[in-house]
Amino acid sequence: MFKLKMTVCRKHSPEFERYLLPWSWSLFFEAFRVDCRLCLLELLPADYIFAGMKIAVMPGDFIGKEVVAEGLKVLDVAAKKFGFKYETTHYPFGAEYYLEKKITLPDSALKELAAHDAILFGAVGADPRGNTQIPQGLIETDILLKMRFELDQYINLRPTKLLPGVPTPLKNVGPDDLDMVIVRENTEGLYCQNGGFLYKGTKHEVANQIEVTTRHGVERAIRYAFEYAKQFNRKKVTLVAKTNVLRFAHNLWMRAFEEVKAEYAGIETDYHHVDACTMYMVTKPRIYDVIVTTNMFGDIITDLGAAIQGGMGMAASGNLNPTRQAASMFEPVHGSAPDIAGKNFANPIATFLSVSMMLDFLNQPKAAEAIKKACADTVADPKNHTRDLGGTASCTQVGEIVCAKLG
Ligand code: NAD
Ligand code: IPM
Ligand code: MN
Repeated sequence: MFKLKMTVCRKHSPEFERYLLPWSWSLFFEAFRVDCRLCLLELLPADYIFAGMKIAVMPGDFIGKEVVAEGLKVLDVAAKKFGFKYETTHYPFGAEYYLEKKITLPDSALKELAAHDAILFGAVGADPRGNTQIPQGLIETDILLKMRFELDQYINLRPTKLLPGVPTPLKNVGPDDLDMVIVRENTEGLYCQNGGFLYKGTKHEVANQIEVTTRHGVERAIRYAFEYAKQFNRKKVTLVAKTNVLRFAHNLWMRAFEEVKAEYAGIETDYHHVDACTMYMVTKPRIYDVIVTTNMFGDIITDLGAAIQGGMGMAASGNLNPTRQAASMFEPVHGSAPDIAGKNFANPIATFLSVSMMLDFLNQPKAAEAIKKACADTVADPKNHTRDLGGTASCTQVGEIVCAKLG
């Protein structure tokens, strides 16, 4: 993990900690032999200082490019309206780039990414049926998971909310019945790539994939869920796991949950096995408020969550490093959708809502709220629905409508 220097000397007050410098500022610490950000500022030429947000943009592949292009338009309108400054740095990584250059995500780029304030990410990945020129899973693990893990984005926050006017496949379910936030542990579990093969390719082949579960990792995810509930006045936190079978890893989850919940007396708690959870999400989604769960289960139930909130094009997410020692990353839950790419069919709302989450994280709550409202107003009218919602509007048209409502 790349830790950034956060020190401020006695001469300078810590409240200036978030004064921003260009991404390359970390190199200057060494060059000028100082430890304090504000001492460094005094040494740098005034026009080198940029008091705006540094946003890294990685559109990725297929519809990732289409939705991020629209997301950047929304960001631009929001910046003008709410008077904040930002700068973007574009990164080309993804399956297409790999095919051309045989590079996934170099460490040098990762180091740069860490020093941004946030990363706006589209989606990476080739056709899920496989591409013989790309080893299976290479793009996803070497780019997306590498960022989540190396930048210690240990929370994957995935709000699952049905907006008025958006069709859900669920019977008798309206916006009042579907408003949950899924807190997915994001740097452990089955995603650690801890495992391997024995006797590969033989009849006796063994493949292990270990569910890495640490008290530290589990506890910080659970604690985040309770803190989130407290801050946003949510009433209940439900742990979703599989304690009846995974009697070691999920026993640890359960014990940590029991201990942490004791510190949050006003918040109701519950536990569901993940299989039952998938059923309840369909039959009575109203029972969920905040869910905290493992990396793998969080992945699966948030696609289900996306489906019931109107589809993949509606689901936003933030990969958060709450310590802010490295950049957090904001992205739609969906993938690169090669099946609809290049046709202007993609629903960009999930990306806009991810931009909203990013601005909220970057202390721009008014802009964040305004984007959410512009999205809600847009999808309230079926004329503005893309094909996934049963309409005919294009990705760029929806982008224009949201920008117009926002501006
Ligand atoms: P997917 O999410 O890309 O697509 C699933 C289905 O949802 C497809 O039918 C697609 O057309 C539809 N869909 C997705 N986003 C949509 C949108 N914005 N508007 C309208 N319809 C949308 O999942 P997949 O097909 O399993 O994966 C495709 C590739 O993306 C794979 O390589 C996969 O590994 C990768 N992937 C990447 C990410 C990411 O980068 N965050 C996430 C999931 C999948
Ligand atoms: C997601 C995706 C990723 C995940 C893949 C692409 C590695 O499905 O963001 O939900 O499994 O987390
Ligand atoms: Mn997923």
